[in-house]
Amino acid sequence: MGFDQQAKAADVTGIPCVRTVVDLRSAIARWRAAGETIGLVPTMGALHDGHLALVAASLEKMDRTVVTILVNPLQFGPEEDLSAYPRNEAADGEKLTAAAADLLYAPAIEEMYPPGFATEVRVAGLTEMLCGASRPVHFAGVATVVAKLFLQAQPDAAFFGEKDYQQWLVVRRLARDLDMAVRVERVATMREGDGLALSSRNAYLTPEERAIAPKLFEMLGQMAAAIRKGRAIDDAIAWGKDELRRAGFGKIDYLEVRDQESLVPIEAGEEGARIFAAVHLGKTRLIDNLAVAD
Ligand code: PAJ
Repeated sequence: MGFDQQAKAADVTGIPCVRTVVDLRSAIARWRAAGETIGLVPTMGALHDGHLALVAASLEKMDRTVVTILVNPLQFGPEEDLSAYPRNEAADGEKLTAAAADLLYAPAIEEMYPPGFATEVRVAGLTEMLCGASRPVHFAGVATVVAKLFLQAQPDAAFFGEKDYQQWLVVRRLARDLDMAVRVERVATMREGDGLALSSRNAYLTPEERAIAPKLFEMLGQMAAAIRKGRAIDDAIAWGKDELRRAGFGKIDYLEVRDQESLVPIEAGEEGARIFAAVHLGKTRLIDNLAVAD
């Protein structure tokens, strides 16, 4: 099926939509033939302004912007929220149409992982700590789907959010290690007015939890300021954990200060220090991170 017919067959209006690798490649090949650059924005949908900031960054820097939507089963653990994860393709299509993205690629799971699919892409080291420690299958699932998306679309640049800082590092490592000619760009975290990082999972929060949630970013800011003033890292972490518990958060998966290139623990507020947090609030797991330096 040609690209235009495919666009009509899809139940997304406005933005052209393709659902197969063949159609994705033929759409992109036309742009390439015209000498245009391609930006890729991988997402799992339920789009919010954080995703749209990535789209805006791509639109600004690249001639063409392709947004992908796939709730990737490989990156969810057995106890995680794969079935509950919000899906709203029609609303996503409208947002992408308003943003003037060029193409939506929304493959079915079977298109991405046909019967017999058996390959896993795993990045060592970076994936074994922080979110990798509490979500053991997560980053291999991310690396596998992102490697496929990069090979399918062969973009010049791909855009990832600082909100998932460790994910950005993992994807950058993957592209370098596999000699993929893709620039892996990082876009600043979009926040609500009260500081809460936008996330599709914020939809799970009850009103009471939503009132508590911004205290995570507030605490990160206070920790960063204290470390800049010379407070010992261990002290700052202990203080931050107390603050989170006092505010009403549940299990703290981690609250750590790490080198922002290697993710190894650091001793003092050295250059390149970044604070990383993952905490539970009711049924929702929230993550955030902040550079120690201003
Ligand atoms: P998803 O959670 O949908 O996020 C898609 C992209 O949007 C990621 O690069 C993420 O970091 C970015 N993003 C999310 N919230 C943001 C915010 N508040 N500000 C800025 N950017 C934000 O991350 C994934 O999907 C998946 O793991 C994926 C990379 C698509 C692979 O399946």
